[in-house]
Amino acid sequence: MSPDQAAPTFSLDGEDLPFEPGDTVLGAAVRAGRYIPHLCWHAGFSPHGSCRICTVKVDGRMGAACTTQARAGAEVESNTEELNLQRKTLLQMLFVEGNHFCPSCEKSGNCLLQATAYQVGMEGPHFEEFYPDRPVDASHPDILLDFNRCILCELCVRASRDVDHKNVFAIGGHGIATHLLVNSESGRLGDTTIALEDRAASICPVGVILPKRRGFALPIGERRFDAKSVAEQAEPDA
Ligand code: SF4
Ligand code: FES
Repeated sequence: MSPDQAAPTFSLDGEDLPFEPGDTVLGAAVRAGRYIPHLCWHAGFSPHGSCRICTVKVDGRMGAACTTQARAGAEVESNTEELNLQRKTLLQMLFVEGNHFCPSCEKSGNCLLQATAYQVGMEGPHFEEFYPDRPVDASHPDILLDFNRCILCELCVRASRDVDHKNVFAIGGHGIATHLLVNSESGRLGDTTIALEDRAASICPVGVILPKRRGFALPIGERRFDAKSVAEQAEPDA
């Protein structure tokens, strides 16, 4: 495209949004500072398309904004009552499937799941809680793993494989039994080569992979999403 050629655009909730060739709807929206709710997408990684929180309507058809290519002239709807209600239901299912006790979670205020739930107006779990009992893995000297909060976004899997080149994490099982795995013979994190500096150690959008001995260093109330809602942050998952 020559410099004087205008970038192609699509409309997002009625407003024109420029995009670059190869952009997805979500990628273009985030670059332009426009918010489309999402959990498993991260700017630094290839899209995964699993959480479906980013579902939008493109010319009337539902699709995940993180995997749908931007197309000139397309009309994308995202911030509608219907789509936000659907997102709320998905979030409520995620909340009851794990143990997400925000007031006692070290990630509270920095958690993308919590921030997204606030954003779509989720006020309670609605469904019956599963209350899973998954043992915490405290075997690593610097990193704690609380499986009870995993939303199976696979960001740690992608970060460990593609950035750290260590393959520390994997997702196993099927359906309701799908779960996070640690790739070591013992299945314990302490028997892997993961280090606190690894990308996988800091990518978790919820409170599963946590650094030890840093709990509540910044008080709840002064954290990232306490200051500004997820919709007001240009890169909410950075
Ligand atoms: Fe996603 Fe965190 Fe679960 Fe990994 S541990 S799959 S980053 S929620
Ligand atoms: Fe698009 Fe998860 S952010 S499916």
